[in-house]
Amino acid sequence: MLNWERFNLHCPSFFLSVFYMEVVMGQSTCPKEVENYVASMVLSAVADTLGYNNGKWEFQQSGSVIHKELAEKGGLGNFSIQGWRVSDDTVMHLATAEALVAAGRNPRLQHLYFLLARNYKECMNDMEGRAPGAMSVESTMKLDPERPNGWRVPFSPRAGGCGAAMRAMCIGLRFYRPDQLDTLIKVSIESGRMTHHHPTGYLGALASALFTAYAVNSVPPVAWGKRLIEVLPQAKAYVQESDFYVKENMEQWYYFEEQWKKYLAERGISDGVSSPKFPPKYGVEERDAFYTSVSYSGWGGSSGHDAPMIAYDALLGAGDSWTELADRAFFHGGDSDSTAAIAASWWGVIHGFQGVPPSLYTHLEYKDRLEKVARDLYSIV
Ligand code: AR6
Ligand code: MG
Repeated sequence: MLNWERFNLHCPSFFLSVFYMEVVMGQSTCPKEVENYVASMVLSAVADTLGYNNGKWEFQQSGSVIHKELAEKGGLGNFSIQGWRVSDDTVMHLATAEALVAAGRNPRLQHLYFLLARNYKECMNDMEGRAPGAMSVESTMKLDPERPNGWRVPFSPRAGGCGAAMRAMCIGLRFYRPDQLDTLIKVSIESGRMTHHHPTGYLGALASALFTAYAVNSVPPVAWGKRLIEVLPQAKAYVQESDFYVKENMEQWYYFEEQWKKYLAERGISDGVSSPKFPPKYGVEERDAFYTSVSYSGWGGSSGHDAPMIAYDALLGAGDSWTELADRAFFHGGDSDSTAAIAASWWGVIHGFQGVPPSLYTHLEYKDRLEKVARDLYSIV
């Protein structure tokens, strides 16, 4: 793995060539290919579509029933998704990504927040048949982007859902460089709390974005959880300094961190280097039970802490197998479209389209829009 800052210090000629490519040529120096960016956006939407199955599988509480129905269709890759719609997760992920692109190469954050709020509000006109989340709907009605600070909404104790996490992966595609960590933290938190003003909600956005950035930098997944814990104090300081519902935020800060520390300890990866330990039998039923056990109120993956956690658990267990990722992250009894959208976005950065049957994305809704925004994002990083 490459430590970019140290590498730059010891390789002045490399640094100069980076400077030349970035400033003189205006070219990207991203350590990944544009194909990985496209795969991240497109496969996230494919996964959302599969996990959602027009509402049938998102709201099916038994993973075993979903796996049975999947087998009856011939298994993953042996059926067409023509007529299957993307859910709110993808519509809102597109809203985030298109705002990042519209903000340009050197964004002013206040302008970016205006664009994000405007897109979040507007995308609610495209939610028929996509099952948007309650807090996402409620908060976007309060957004008033044309007014100064109209992108802010009040704190809510009910805003810990995964609606902020499910749409934040592309923030990590945009601000992936280690020297952009501060911007990644600010943008993920502020975009998150435009609808989910509760630490459990917006820290989910931070985790989704941060892990995408780690994927772009080829940080081994086993280290991501430990690094998230290390980044949390910086996120906390930002929220404290922002002088907006600080007391309410600090009172609820503990939950996300506690749940993540508990999870990392259970998998034996608190040190960021040990191999993850899974139970000897960890099939569909055992996973359903585990996902429920990490949840806030019994629906695994529906909150800001456990949607990225289940996606991460699936990624760790899947290795380079798309099918295994799908089994673990898309087809379970919890909030399957959101854990799917998050996990597949990370997997796409790492593996591109490797081993994914083209039949799964040929008829994907918004395919052209997703590909375009991914290419546009890549061109401005
Ligand atoms: N802490 C933890 N979880 C919470 C909290 C809290 N303080 N408050 C609510 N929840 P919802 P969203 C849980 O419905 O986040 C689409 O269907 C709550 O128990 O406001 O706006 C997507 O595909 C509930 O189960 O949704 C996602 O499924 C959960 O948060 C969903 O909408 C979701 O809250 C995301 O949108
Ligand atoms: Mg959804």
